[in-house]
Amino acid sequence: MQESVDPPADPNVRWHASAADAALRARCAGQRGVTAWLTGLSGSGKSTIAVDVEHRLLQVGCLACCLDGDNLRHGLNAGVGFDATGRQEAVRRAGEAALLMAGSGVVAIVGMISPYRADRDRVRARHLAAGIPFIEVHVHAPLAIAEGRDPKGLYAKARAGEIKGFTGIDDPYEAPLSAEVVLHTAEHSLAACVAELEAAILRVSVASQRAK
Ligand code: ADX
Repeated sequence: MQESVDPPADPNVRWHASAADAALRARCAGQRGVTAWLTGLSGSGKSTIAVDVEHRLLQVGCLACCLDGDNLRHGLNAGVGFDATGRQEAVRRAGEAALLMAGSGVVAIVGMISPYRADRDRVRARHLAAGIPFIEVHVHAPLAIAEGRDPKGLYAKARAGEIKGFTGIDDPYEAPLSAEVVLHTAEHSLAACVAELEAAILRVSVASQRAK
């Protein structure tokens, strides 16, 4: 059964159920799909970790796909703004894309600032309703550290007033209250963070299916 969505679907548009269930897909794929949702400040390390974890999973034969916030804004989320409504929509779309992927047996690794708790919780609820595992990952670095890294020079622009509504500077970031995984990138090496996330993903989904 299709669970309710927000905004609700047009009443004249009907949900057509698939004849296949998650177990059949998992058997076919040799793995169970899962979404790992990386949230954190710009410069916290989301993209770097996501790309490395994706690569490592692919190397061990696990089909994984990284959905990066910046990259999505070149396509699926092109033209979507950075005000609260825009971010909500960007997160909703990415969440739906991840749900489709994970529901097909893929490990979807999403890396987005996704600053609002309610938006992330909505994505989690959509996954839970569909029986798809969802791992929220807080990629944590103190603002001063993320700003010090400033890999794209955007914090400097935000401080200079050239970018308005930049997360952490003049826009909020609501940290997760109970993320399944917290990666402290200012304290631990990239390799350690990647290994921790890879293990968490394999624990939740893939290893159990492989053993069957
Ligand atoms: S989200 O808040 O809507 O989840 P998303 O992850 O898609 O953000 O995109 C964040 C990226 O957009 C940042 O890494 C940065 O490169 C760029 N960016 C441009 N404007 C902003 C802004 N106002 N706040 C945060 N990031 C911004």
